[in-house]
Amino acid sequence: MPKSVIDILDLTAEEIRELIASAEDIIKDPDRYAHACDRKKLATLFFEPSTRTRLSFEAAMYELGGHVISVPDAGSSSAAKGESVADTAKTVSCYADIIAMRHPKEGAALVASLNAAVPVINAGDGGHCHPTQTLADLLTIWREKGTFDGLTIGLCGDLKFGRTVHSLINALSRYEGIRFVLISPEELKVPGYVKRESIKKRMIPYTQTTDLMSVMPELDILYMTRVQRERFFNEEEYLRLKDSYILTPEKLVSAKKDLCIMHPLPRVNEISVKIDSDPRACYFKQVLNGKYMRMALILKLLKEAGTL
Ligand code: CP
Repeated sequence: MPKSVIDILDLTAEEIRELIASAEDIIKDPDRYAHACDRKKLATLFFEPSTRTRLSFEAAMYELGGHVISVPDAGSSSAAKGESVADTAKTVSCYADIIAMRHPKEGAALVASLNAAVPVINAGDGGHCHPTQTLADLLTIWREKGTFDGLTIGLCGDLKFGRTVHSLINALSRYEGIRFVLISPEELKVPGYVKRESIKKRMIPYTQTTDLMSVMPELDILYMTRVQRERFFNEEEYLRLKDSYILTPEKLVSAKKDLCIMHPLPRVNEISVKIDSDPRACYFKQVLNGKYMRMALILKLLKEAGTL
């Protein structure tokens, strides 16, 4: 079975270091990679909405000289007729060299990887995880801070359903001197399994609070997230919680001068657009970095599968 990436922990810290080096090399000399994937095909199977992840995977494959075939939404594939994820994966393996899949159900990408004959990349499975967003986040932190060690990372908003948060916690828990500050309403705290399997297992210091302003001066990274409306069972609960945190320039007065403000996007209203011109705003850098890390990951997985 070829190597797939379903969880960020499918990649060792050393592999992440190599992917960052590869992405930096692509950024430096993109022409050198313009034919790296000639005649290879990426299938993007997106059974949930996406702008950044789908388009960055597709842009990544085109910039490597490859081709893209796509299921752009849940209604336009045979999944709408009841086809299983396993059968879809077996079928798409006949047409593509690598698959990127987003699905509303936790575990769907894992099922696909167990049935596909080609590498599968999890492009987000329900509220579980989103490893390639984490690769984008890690390259951004690396380029802004030059290290992963010794950082105090504030994660703010919907830490329960925010799959990018779960993947980022898992990834950063492997570095030295990390400290997490988990900022959320009581109802949207980080799930127990994420805390148990990474933060507590690795004895990472962390604090939980509902008050963003009280911790602002401590933070090296502030990772804002959207309240995930699509994962709520109860619309009233969503409406009650959706405006819990709105970052405005006034709230940054006590922040560090070199704070790195991140957001996986899409943004609803968690970060005022007035902050976009602040040099500390890094969220559109994350968008671009995501394309380079996906290029590096496609190259790595195709090489390991013996396709390149
Ligand atoms: N960050 C992210 O996953 O964005 P999309 O939902 O637009 O892909």
